[in-house]
Amino acid sequence: MMAVGPALTNASPHIGARQATTPMSIRPEALGAPSFLRAHNVALAYVVGGMVKGIASRAMVERLARARLLGFFGTGGMAAAQIADEVATLARTLGQDAPWGVNFLHNFVMPEAEEQVVDILLRHGVRCIEASAFIVPTPALVRYRLTGLAMGADGHPVARHRIMAKVSRPEVARRFLAAADPEIIRMLVARGHVTEAQAALAARISLADDLCIEADSGGHTDRQVALALVPSMLRLRAEVAGDFPPAGRVRVGAAGGIGAPEAAAAAFVLGADFVLTGSLNQCTVEAATSDLVKDMLAAAAPQDFDTAPAGDMFEIGARVQVLKRGTLFAARANRLHELYRSHASIEDIPAPVLREIEERYFGRSVAAVWDETARHYAASAPGALAEAEANPHKKLAMIFRWYFIHSARLALAGEVGARSNFQIHAGPAMAACNAWLAGTPLADWRRRHVDDLGIRLMSEAADHLTRQLVRWTAGPPPSIFPTESNR
Ligand SMILES: Cc1cc2nc3c(=O)[nH]c(=O)nc-3n(C[C@H](O)[C@H](O)[C@H](O)COP(=O)(O)O)c2cc1C
Repeated sequence: MMAVGPALTNASPHIGARQATTPMSIRPEALGAPSFLRAHNVALAYVVGGMVKGIASRAMVERLARARLLGFFGTGGMAAAQIADEVATLARTLGQDAPWGVNFLHNFVMPEAEEQVVDILLRHGVRCIEASAFIVPTPALVRYRLTGLAMGADGHPVARHRIMAKVSRPEVARRFLAAADPEIIRMLVARGHVTEAQAALAARISLADDLCIEADSGGHTDRQVALALVPSMLRLRAEVAGDFPPAGRVRVGAAGGIGAPEAAAAAFVLGADFVLTGSLNQCTVEAATSDLVKDMLAAAAPQDFDTAPAGDMFEIGARVQVLKRGTLFAARANRLHELYRSHASIEDIPAPVLREIEERYFGRSVAAVWDETARHYAASAPGALAEAEANPHKKLAMIFRWYFIHSARLALAGEVGARSNFQIHAGPAMAACNAWLAGTPLADWRRRHVDDLGIRLMSEAADHLTRQLVRWTAGPPPSIFPTESNR
């Protein structure tokens, strides 16, 4: 088991060097909520978000934990057996008290699969999860939260399991600020998952410990603007706390678009209790994706991103933000979605269009794609296969969805010849990071380590705030507006 070292020891020459400069100097450890540092046993209010298919890798989570930073292992798109293996290794190497967690994605297609993941989390004593894509908290999520809930020595409930809920809509945030749904709690008691005593305590705590407010980000995005969303959510927390005081203790953090120190500083000025980054971590040594993808990301500028349909929610039109430069994925995925909306079946699509898709997008025939898809569903979800066989529009969606899995795999593998089809989730925070690090040794991603980036980002955010404070407070010219001094 890993011994967690003191805060930011050899991790950052940066931090030691910048202390005790001016009396006004802001320290990176002071950014955000002190309760965040205590609750998660971390040195900074900085989090690395999960990235699908283990791109947020075990190596990434371990390295962060050793620097006393919180990172979430990316379980999205992984089979239960693989999640179990990875989580078992993390639990063995890091132990339960180090800062690390696991991304827990709502499963739209098979909600029962969530129960399997919760079994794995509980079996290995995982103390913290990043819950994403939930619209309504499910029984599996509530079971995780309430297992181990106990009365503390001070008479307050103590939760063994922490939930950081990623949200971008107020109605969803409200459900996590509230206590768990009493109906779900009753069901869990009836099933023997939760005791009557735990059910009573559950009414006294919010479902989440932390709300991560996700503005426009790499990957799945609701395209919200942080400057508008964070203040609304802070007001929502205050409003909910008026009726349910525990909600006032839920920390509110910011994610989406944070790729440079100034952006992190802005989030803290807005009132964020912590910040969470995504895109920039995909372009580090520890990210489990191909070198070619990292080369492409390291060259990205702000205009190099676009949105495309999300493969896992293709039919309902959810969107992901992806890298546009150097790949045609976004244009091709958008075209497939247009074709899906305007055609009732694969047979309905004109032959020349289909030929182009087979040659340029799929790199194989539609028959071969359907064969592979049908075999996969026959083994994993025979019901869904039967539905698609009876409904040509569903079958069309299934064939097109194959492209999304294929294009993500090509990017992970880094096949140069297949680059035009690479699906790379990322947002302009990546470009901000590139601009920030230009001209420094870290312009080369091979020198970017996930913990160093986080520490540097927070440290320079603190410096930025110090500089702004000095500027704003040191001898301003007489104001033309009425102030306390010239009124
Ligand atoms: C490549 C990639 C994969 C991602 N996969 C997931 C995921 O599986 N689950 C999740 O909750 N968030 C996922 N995210 C979102 C990040 O955890 C984070 O919330 C987001 O990237 C923050 O915004 P930013 O990209 O602007 O920094 C992913 C982001 C990227 C860039």
